[in-house]
Amino acid sequence: MSEQQLNHIAIIMDGNGRWATMRGRPRVWGHIRGSSKVASIVEEADRLGIKALTLYAFSSENWSRPFSEVRVLFALLKKFICHERERIIRNKIRFKIIGDISELPQGTQDLIHDLEQVTAHHQGLKLTFAFGYGGRAELVHAVNQFITHNPGQKISEKDLNNCLYCPDLGDVDLLIRTGGDCRVSNFLLWQLAYAELYFTETKWPDFSVSEFARIVDFVTRRERRFGTIGEVSDLNEAQKLAEKNRVNINQQLGMH
Ligand code: FPP
Repeated sequence: MSEQQLNHIAIIMDGNGRWATMRGRPRVWGHIRGSSKVASIVEEADRLGIKALTLYAFSSENWSRPFSEVRVLFALLKKFICHERERIIRNKIRFKIIGDISELPQGTQDLIHDLEQVTAHHQGLKLTFAFGYGGRAELVHAVNQFITHNPGQKISEKDLNNCLYCPDLGDVDLLIRTGGDCRVSNFLLWQLAYAELYFTETKWPDFSVSEFARIVDFVTRRERRFGTIGEVSDLNEAQKLAEKNRVNINQQLGMH
């Protein structure tokens, strides 16, 4: 079986609250311990040659949590940027946030924009945090962008892709969700169309570099057929083959 290079991995870092509650600690303790895992997973993704890593750090639905918890998540994002800034720059990582960060403190927004600018030309791992993010909101934003610039025109898949928050991330090859739930929770709805989905019981604060590497290895060996019967190795090839077969079949049926 041929091996499949995973270009884009997305992770739903779930289970922080339960991890803390099981230990008799407040939920935010789980977020604090969980945030300390992020840098090592980023480093491992880079080492494994992954091209893009997108992490779900705060969903648009998370606004409904108590403000004391929301404030801790804001603070953890800021701490991550301050701590990891130098390493991100040294490793030529391109840093980006997708989602609505307008409610974050101005100082945090400035740190984010600064790091985005400084790393914009980097050719290494594309590290993206989804923060204040919702997949449906991203699709609505993309369609509205298109309508504004192309009034009265029909939108194609390519047009929609080009109007996403970060078009060059491309399709997700593998979605990992920790914490035991089997849902995609409004994350990267468009980009997940052909993704492999991997759900692990491990709660995010216990998620290790070795489990991450094992999952990547397992999925790399898994066969992906993209709706074919197994003769292609990527989505582009599958789409070209589908078009060629469609034309051939129509010709054979005498339809044009
Ligand atoms: C879900 O756990 C997780 C989140 C809502 C936030 C994820 C955030 C982090 C891992 C820390 C942020 C780190 C950085 C660097 C920005 P949950 O609280 O919903 O867990 P539960 O399902 O057990 O309640």
